[in-house]
Amino acid sequence: MYAAFRSIGAYVPEKILTNAELSKMVDTTDEWITKRTGIKERRIAAANETTSDMAVQAAEKAIERSGISKEDIDMIVVATISPDYFNMPSTATVVAHKMGLDKVTAFDISAACTGFIYVLSIAKAFIESGMKKNVLIIGAEKMSAITDYTDRGTCILFGDGAGAAMICATDNKEEAITDIHTAADGSLGDFLMTPDGGTGNPHQAELKAEASFIQMKGNETFKIAVRTLTNDVVEILAENNTKASQIKHFIPHQANYRIIKAVGDALKLEKEQVVLTVHKYGNTSGASIPMAMNDLYEEGNLKTGELMLLDAFGGGLTWGSALLPFAGK
Ligand code: ACO
Repeated sequence: MYAAFRSIGAYVPEKILTNAELSKMVDTTDEWITKRTGIKERRIAAANETTSDMAVQAAEKAIERSGISKEDIDMIVVATISPDYFNMPSTATVVAHKMGLDKVTAFDISAACTGFIYVLSIAKAFIESGMKKNVLIIGAEKMSAITDYTDRGTCILFGDGAGAAMICATDNKEEAITDIHTAADGSLGDFLMTPDGGTGNPHQAELKAEASFIQMKGNETFKIAVRTLTNDVVEILAENNTKASQIKHFIPHQANYRIIKAVGDALKLEKEQVVLTVHKYGNTSGASIPMAMNDLYEEGNLKTGELMLLDAFGGGLTWGSALLPFAGK
């Protein structure tokens, strides 16, 4: 049995936060943010809107487009670092309940911006082993809830949103997800952290709100991201005897235009091959790849059989890439 990427869906919150608005909140400018990141604006979820609310909206679209009936879903995996509840219940179980699916396997994974590649690999492995047939994978983030809006080094980057996909069993090899790489280097865990609120911090009793916000060594992360991602995509293409020119859509994690451009240039990709949404959504962590893919799909530019290359890098540090044909309609 193979695993096919059957459908895509996404949800984007209504409220827009522009660079001009941010420059009234912290010492920054539209010019700086645009030049250093490519971001012009990002979406912010409503105060009462949870990560699971956004995940459900994205999931409903993906399910409808897959042609699979809800009752046939046998597993839900959510990638998030901004869950509804930090310990339990998992966001996946909240999503399952909101969708009326109370007997599925449901769990979250934490791999920051690489989350969507990780959940994709989990779906592939469960399907290929024969344990599951129809897996709903979701990347959903309310990054605004864990962002410090007094820190100009991070608050300009992040946005909210959700993306979802149905990964389904198939016996048609042509539709199969070709390959997925996932990796981590925990020695660099302090490059991206929300330090407080867990057992790793001895000052938990004096929990301060700002310690639950993202802290990032931006420049160090940037350099490692470019080097690691470039090596990883070169490797996954070589291992699968695929030329960069055969990639129809390179859909990278949308963290920073300069990272995307550096990796795209290393592969000598044409502009038309590279999918960009960072200017309008910012960095939505685990949600960014499916949100970008959904835009491509809704614009009518993602067709059955087209080869996609995904890559992502994030907190952990974690990274990964995936090579796969779109197996939806
Ligand atoms: N406005 C104006 N100036 C700023 C801002 C800002 N918003 N932020 C930083 N600066 C200043 C700094 O203080 C510094 O000033 P100095 O030279 O006087 O010290 C100068 O700009 C340069 O700062 P750098 O941090 O070196 O800027 P850089 O070019 O690296 O850009 C950025 C910063 C955009 C954060 C970049 O490093 C980046 O994108 N990093 C990677 C982020 C990433 O990919 N993370 C992984 C995914 S996220 C996740 O997993 C949750």
